[in-house]
Amino acid sequence: MFPKTFSSVKIGPIELKNRLVMAPLTRQNAEADGTPTDEMAAYYARRARGGIGMIISEGTYEVDELSCKAYLSQPGIVNDKHIAGWKKVTDAVHAFGTPIICQLMHGGRVVDPRCLFEGDSPVSASDTQSDGFVLYTDSDAEKHDRGLSGDWPKVTFPPARALTEAELEKVADGFAEGAARAIEAGFDGVEIHGANGYLVYQFIHPKTNLRTDAYGGSAENNVRFAKMICQKVREAIGPDKLITLRLSQDGVDDFMGAWPGGVEYAREVGAALADCAADALHWSSFDWTDNRDPNSDVPMAKAIAETSGKQMLVNGGIADGAGAEAVFDSGAGDAAVVGRPLFAHPDWPHIIRSGMDYPWAEFDRKYVIQPPVDLDKCYPMDRVVPDWVPDTSKRR
Ligand SMILES: Cc1cc2nc3c(=O)[nH]c(=O)nc-3n(C[C@H](O)[C@H](O)[C@H](O)COP(=O)(O)O)c2cc1C
Repeated sequence: MFPKTFSSVKIGPIELKNRLVMAPLTRQNAEADGTPTDEMAAYYARRARGGIGMIISEGTYEVDELSCKAYLSQPGIVNDKHIAGWKKVTDAVHAFGTPIICQLMHGGRVVDPRCLFEGDSPVSASDTQSDGFVLYTDSDAEKHDRGLSGDWPKVTFPPARALTEAELEKVADGFAEGAARAIEAGFDGVEIHGANGYLVYQFIHPKTNLRTDAYGGSAENNVRFAKMICQKVREAIGPDKLITLRLSQDGVDDFMGAWPGGVEYAREVGAALADCAADALHWSSFDWTDNRDPNSDVPMAKAIAETSGKQMLVNGGIADGAGAEAVFDSGAGDAAVVGRPLFAHPDWPHIIRSGMDYPWAEFDRKYVIQPPVDLDKCYPMDRVVPDWVPDTSKRR
């Protein structure tokens, strides 16, 4: 079944046993100070045990400044405590022979304002304000942990100010320092989050990048900041670790977002990234076959892969084995990246390989199939951390 999907592949310097990769998925399960929890180690290890070829961690903040942290209870990779917490995660995942890379992200203008230090404002490519609002991944049962009753509060984003060129260097250095700490924590590489509405996306998307300096005004200029980050990260972690750069045209504050210029802009972005220090690019979407360009039916991932010459990870709406195989048959990418099916079922790779029917399952915002909740199939599992007891008292 699905011979391409279940063949090994080398992405950058890393050998994967199959071409299925777990998508980065924010879980808001860290301590309030960003320390990864045992609960997270169990969650990731359970998915490693389920047969996935590689894991990309949830978006992780790399510095404690300039609106980097985007979510309450988001994990960080800022200090020794964070490193120690992540080490438990990477050890638990490596016990199953599965590589794991750390997604480094900077929230930019779409940070939860409750994560900002007093007096700080969010930063972005330009002076803009998102008209979106903070999303939650918490389950409804977790409301009491945050002292809430009734509906989740609707929290809007404050106005953001444009970063200066000197600050861009500083932010890129922050990514590089975070990457070095991620390697110390046992990760096999890092992903730079240039997608889904966050800071680096705000530079790449012409809608949010209104700059007239070297960092705005053309595809080449719009990706300059992403390339600077990748270059500094490469210098920090060396040639033997994987670096991927995630891209998308939609974001958490604009789910139907499209790049003006469509596939043509994607080709320009790809060409401008040809000499980027990342080993591979990663297309993020909710349906990779939907390019939102009325003038072309070429998938964005394929257009970018062709002009960049980079390996491509393809994400969005891959629900079964045939869906994964289509990524390879179409020539759009080298690996299929899967998010929501792995919330619903950590054994998804084994299931699709067996040829068993696997209907797209509803999932709650945290991690389980419902209904019916099958405790053998959902999380938490008791195999990795037998004495796991959630300590929610410190959660923010
Ligand atoms: C609850 C939730 C949390 C997510 N967190 C992240 C994240 O931390 N970083 C990221 O790049 N994408 C994140 N995404 C986007 C997913 O990686 C992925 O692009 C999306 O789920 C579509 O892929 P799928 O159809 O395989 O689920 C998240 C998506 C969901 C539903």
